[in-house]
Amino acid sequence: MPDGGFVIKAYIAERAEKVNAALKNLLEEYGTEYPPRLRDAIKYPLDAGGKRIRPVLCLAAAELAGGGDEVMPAALALELVHTYSLVHDDLPAMDNDDLRRGRPTVHKVFGDAMAVLVGDALLTMAFEVIARSEIAPKRRVLVVEELARAAGPAGMVAGQVLDLEGEKKNGNLDDVLAIHRNKTAKLITGAVRMGVIAAGGTRKLLNALTKWGENAGLAFQVADDVLDVTSTPEELGKSVGKDVSENKLTAVSVLGIEGARLCAEELAAKAKAAVAKIAGADVFVHMVDMFVRRNK
Ligand code: IPE
Ligand code: IPE
Ligand code: MG
Ligand code: MG
Ligand code: MG
Repeated sequence: MPDGGFVIKAYIAERAEKVNAALKNLLEEYGTEYPPRLRDAIKYPLDAGGKRIRPVLCLAAAELAGGGDEVMPAALALELVHTYSLVHDDLPAMDNDDLRRGRPTVHKVFGDAMAVLVGDALLTMAFEVIARSEIAPKRRVLVVEELARAAGPAGMVAGQVLDLEGEKKNGNLDDVLAIHRNKTAKLITGAVRMGVIAAGGTRKLLNALTKWGENAGLAFQVADDVLDVTSTPEELGKSVGKDVSENKLTAVSVLGIEGARLCAEELAAKAKAAVAKIAGADVFVHMVDMFVRRNK
C-alpha cells in the first residue's frame, strides 16, 4: 500500500458500505413488529452515518483469518452496541450532548426515556443478530462472550463509570488510560478479536491483533480527546469543548494538546509493532495511522 492515507480510506469506505447495506436489511427484517416511533428512534442514530470503524475492523480481522461474509452479523452487532453506547453517552445524565453524527441527539428529538430504550433495544438486538448468524456454533458462542466482555461491566460500561467519576477528581496519565482502555479500547479490541474468532483464525493472529487493538484503541480515544479541543462541530458532527466544560479527565487535560498528540503517536507505534510480523497486516498499520491523524 504505497499511499496509506488514500488507500485506507478507500478500504474502509468499501467495507463500511457493505455494513450500511446489511444494517438497512436488518432493520427492514424487523418490519412492523415494533412501535413505529421506536422504529424511527432506532433508525435515527444508525442512519446518521458514523465511521463504522468497529465493524470494519471486525471484517478486516476476519479477512486476515480467511473468513468471509458469514462474519457480517458480528460486525453489525459491534455497530449496534457502539451506537447504543453513544446514545446513552449523550444523555443529560451522562455527557449531556446535543449533537451526534451531525444531527441533534436521540434524546433531543425523541426524549430521554426513548433514548434510554433505544440503547436497550440496540444492545439486545446485537446479541440476537449474532445468535442467529451462520458463524459455526462453537465460534458463535465465543463471539457472544467476546462482545459481552468488551461492552459489559468489566469493559465499556466500566470505562463510562470511570469517565463520570473522573469529572470529580484530578488524575494522572494512568488514570486517563484506565478510562480510555475500558470505555474505548476494549470494544475496539473486541472488534478484531471477534473477527478472528468468527473466522477461526490462528492463536498467533489473535494475540497480535489483541495487542494491536489495546494500543490502537487507546490511540483512538486520545485522538478523540485532542479533536474535542482542536476541531469544529461542522467537521466532527458532535459538539466540541465538552471535555473542558464537563471537567473531564482526558489525555489533553493531563498532557496538553501537543503532549496528547505525542502520546497518540507512541501508542500507534506500539500497535504497529504488534502486527509487524503478521503477513498481510499492513492494513492495520494504515488503520492506526488514520486513527491518530484523523480529523473526524
Ligand atoms: C466516538 O466513536 C466515541 C469514542 C469512542 C471516541 P467514533 O469516533 O467511532 O464515532 P462514530 O461511530 O464515527 O460516530
Ligand atoms: C465515549 O467517550 C466513549 C463511549 C463509550 C461512548 P466520549 O464521551 O469522549 O465520546 P464522544 O466524544 O462523546 O463521542
Ligand atoms: Mg463520554
Ligand atoms: Mg461523550
Ligand atoms: Mg470525546
